[in-house]
Order: sequence, then C-alpha cells, then structure tokens
Amino acid sequence: MKNVSIIGSTGSIGRQALDVAACNTDKINIVALAAGSNIELLLEQIHKFKPRLVSVASRTNAEKLKQLLGDNKVPEIMYGTEGLIAVAAYSDADIVLTAVTGTVGLLPTLKAIEAGKDIALANKETLVAAGRLVMEKAAAKGVNLYPVDSEHSAIWQCLNSEPRRSVSKLILTASGGPFRNFPREKMPFITPEMALKHPNWEMGHKITIDSATLMNKGLEVIEAKWLFGVRFEEVQVVVHAQSIIHSMVEFVDGSVIAHLGIPDMRIPIQYALSYPHRWPNHLPRLDLLSVQQLTFEPPDLDRFPCLKLAYQAGSTGGTMPAVLNAANEVAVTRFLKGEIGFMDIPATVHNVMEKHRVISNPELDDILAADRWAREEAGR
Ligand SMILES: NC(=O)c1ccc[n+]([C@@H]2O[C@H](COP(=O)([O-])OP(=O)(O)OC[C@H]3O[C@@H](n4cnc5c(N)ncnc54)[C@H](OP(=O)(O)O)[C@@H]3O)[C@@H](O)[C@H]2O)c1
Repeated sequence: MKNVSIIGSTGSIGRQALDVAACNTDKINIVALAAGSNIELLLEQIHKFKPRLVSVASRTNAEKLKQLLGDNKVPEIMYGTEGLIAVAAYSDADIVLTAVTGTVGLLPTLKAIEAGKDIALANKETLVAAGRLVMEKAAAKGVNLYPVDSEHSAIWQCLNSEPRRSVSKLILTASGGPFRNFPREKMPFITPEMALKHPNWEMGHKITIDSATLMNKGLEVIEAKWLFGVRFEEVQVVVHAQSIIHSMVEFVDGSVIAHLGIPDMRIPIQYALSYPHRWPNHLPRLDLLSVQQLTFEPPDLDRFPCLKLAYQAGSTGGTMPAVLNAANEVAVTRFLKGEIGFMDIPATVHNVMEKHRVISNPELDDILAADRWAREEAGR
C-alpha cells in the first residue's frame, strides 16, 4: 500500500490521479490533499478518499470548508503556503504528487524532498525555475523524482536505466497545438476560447495556453535537461500531431526507442505511482490500425517564438529560466482575461528576459526574488 499526498487535487492532473486511486484502492491510500478554491469538488474528494489532512488556498476557503464538514475532527484543515507545505511534507505520506500549476509548487516540493518523500512530478514549473536546487536536494536526500508529464514518463521508460553515456539524444514530441497550420497573419487575433481548444489533450487552462504557444514544449525541454542530466543540444523537439508517440530516446549505436500509447494522462500518472511495478487498468488500448499514420515535422520557431525563448533561457541558465517562467505565467493570465493578445505572450516574455540581470548559480532566495521581479516587470 502506498500512502499518497496530492497537491492540486481538484485540477486536471489531481482529478485523474484520484481516478487512478479509486481504481486501485488496494494499492493507494490517499492521506492528504491540497487544493485552491474549488471547495465543492474538494468536499466530494474528502468524503470519498478520507484524507487526514487537507489544505486550501485561503483562510476564507478553509472556514467555508470547516463549516461544510460540521463537527468532523478529521481531516485537519489548513490553508495558504503553510498548509500546502504541511500536505507536501505530511509524515504518513510515502510519495507526493505535485499537481499545482506554476511556481507556487516550488516551496512545497522542496519541503517534501527535505522530509524524504518521493515525488511524482507534474508541476514542471518547479524544475524550470529551480532545477539545479531541486535535483541537488533530491540527490542529497536520496529521494526519487518520478516524471508525470507524458513526454518525460516516456523518456524515463525508454531509457530503462541505461547509462548516461549510451544516450545520444532525447526526442520530445509536440502535438503542435491548435495553431500548427493557422495563418500567421491571423495569429495576433487568436482569442482565449480558440486557444483553449487543444486537439488531443484535456488539461488545465494554463498548460493549454502554453501548449498553443509551444511554451509548454520549451518548459519541457528545460524539465528534461534536469530530470535526465542532458545538455540542451541533446534535446530535440519534433512536432507529431497525432500524440501517439509520447517521446523517444536515440542511443549512441543509432537505435531509437519510442514510447507509444493513447493520449490519456492516467497512464503516466499511474506509472509514477506504481513504479517499479505496472498495474493493469481498464483504459482503452492503442489501436495502431485506426491511427494508420504517424507524421513528424520540425517546429516553426518564427511562428512560435516561445520555444526559442525557452531554449535561450535554458542555455543562459542561472535565474533566467525562473524569469522566463514567471513572465509567462503573468502573460498567460492576462491573455486569459482578455487584457493582451496571443502574440503579446512571447513579446512580454522576451521583453522581461531582455531586462533581466542574470545571477548564475542562484540560491533559493535569488530565484524567488527573480520570480517576483519578473512578475512585476511583466505586469508593467
Ligand atoms: N493537465 C495535464 O494534462 C498536464 C500534463 C502534464 C503536466 N501537467 C502539469 O501539471 C500541473 C497541473 O496542471 P493541471 O492542468 O492539472 O492544472 P489545473 O487543472 O489548473 O489545476 C491546478 C490545481 O492547483 C490548485 N491550485 C492552484 N493554486 C493553488 C494554491 N495557491 N494553493 C493550492 N492549490 C492551488 C488548483 O485548485 P483549485 O482548482 O481548487 O483552485 C488545482 O487543483 C502543471 O504544472 C502542468 O504543467 C499537466
């Protein structure tokens, strides 16, 4: 039996993780949950999974939840960063699924690692902002980071514990998003409604917009660098519109191993929780005869400048990836509110990166300061 804490239980990944837990009640025990403000859904999750500790984003939400739970003493209810950290470092948890969006996941992930918890990592922004710190801390504590992102789960499985010297290249596949073939001159007029329609995946709003700008793929390149200890030149992005091959590894002898499957996040979530075992499930199977065709093309970096910006930020290193990520979070939020246009997202990120004075080998305080600065600058 694995005791699991989830931060971000009401989101797309969190809900799918609880689906996996519901199908594996003999193997997964949910001990703690954290969410933001979706109290109704959280209440349902509490009744169904009976966690002992629960956290929400604000005091108001915590009071609302306590009222709804009545005289029940269990679960204990907390809120804010303190609550998020308590859920992440909960003493009974063996593994923590980090499924919040954005750098709000950074501190709880670090605290979970300090507390010796294995991490099932969906929250890629944490590794983008503070990859070196997180990987060093995990190594020092002997903690495992199991990827949840479908591409990184694929690479992890293709690597199959082969030594680093056997690997020549990681090939990250990208669906290309809804605007792969959209007329370039019309791109500034893309609305949030248009951008929220992803062709292959059902996801939270922020990652869906990141997929439409290809920033998501850029964040994944940085995530891959840290998870697998490769150089940026060794990570190739290939547009593969069908999202059947989730990623590939090329080895020094020219062999290429690919991971295939239907686009359903419950598969990589389950593998991160079941590792080193594979559990059976009742999800639909891949039918190659109905897929018929697998296509590949290079990403268009002029049309999707976010991917280029992410490679630049990653190669510059230091505090620059944290700045890229924070500026992007602000720009995406403003785009979703209709305050800026689609192509203002890369423009904002570019402008903020241009103004940033990089600190190389940053400590946590430097990263948090760079994140705050980039948010203010992007807001302006
Ligand atoms: N969705 C996917 O298929 C997918 C695939 C690969 C990787 N990822 C990564 O997984 C992460 C989550 O993505 P998602 O699509 O699941 O996002 P999402 O649907 O937007 O869910 C975000 C979750 O975080 C919670 N949250 C937000 N702010 C919070 C705060 N201050 N304190 C506590 N909880 C907070 C939300 O709670 P409320 O809703 O209650 O406010 C929600 O449970 C992202 O880093 C994303 O890049 C997602």
